[in-house]
Amino acid sequence: MRKPIIAGNWKMNNTIEESKILVRELIPLVENAKIDVVLCPSYLSLAVVKDLVKDTSIKVGAQNMHFEESGAYTGEVSGEMLKELGIEYVIIGHSERRQYFNETDETVNKKAKKALKLNLIPIICVGETLQEREQGKEKSIVTSQVEKALKDLTKEEISHLVIAYEPIWAIGTGEIASNKQANEVCGWIRDKIGELTDGDTAQKIRIQYGGSVKPNNIKGLMDQSHIDGALVGGASLKADQFSTIVNY
Ligand code: PGA
Repeated sequence: MRKPIIAGNWKMNNTIEESKILVRELIPLVENAKIDVVLCPSYLSLAVVKDLVKDTSIKVGAQNMHFEESGAYTGEVSGEMLKELGIEYVIIGHSERRQYFNETDETVNKKAKKALKLNLIPIICVGETLQEREQGKEKSIVTSQVEKALKDLTKEEISHLVIAYEPIWAIGTGEIASNKQANEVCGWIRDKIGELTDGDTAQKIRIQYGGSVKPNNIKGLMDQSHIDGALVGGASLKADQFSTIVNY
């Protein structure tokens, strides 16, 4: 039995004050959820969010991290810095980071390795563009992203991580993948992990769907055999919408 995991990726939204307001609103609405709930605010809001949720089961994640411990990397934040705050999760390789900030499969792999060494749970994002889907390449693109992201990780390490399948054409567009499309790709991801490890490990891994997840489509997604949760962008910025998703 895989425990469902629903994460809110706030992206570059919410000042520290706005973060406090949202978290205070959210806590009573989601604290009794039987699933893992993860909030991923900006770096600046991590400390206050972590503090506000400290007596609840809500977990906190960062949206990125560097793979080095420290050094001359202006503007970057290390996993060690996240650990000091008690952060539990870190999103790695979101398509927006791949598209705008030169994130590659190689840096995703380095970051995943580093996160796991620090006992931070990586949420590794993969997904195809619209053009790749139209050309029928989604299976090869997504499975190759998974293979490269997990390169040289041990079975034990792989068993802890979370994969988020996020078709780029569905992110922030309101155009969601059908339940069948989403489940099909999540199934391919699970098969790939089985090839890289073994059937047991593949069965343990949690795979999220992300891309225009809303209160009205979460249930259908969560009913799918290979979908264990969601990575939610826009709808995670509103307490009523995110809590409805969490309590699907
Ligand atoms: P969206 O974003 O829910 O706004 O489509 C999802 C994501 O980018 O993780």
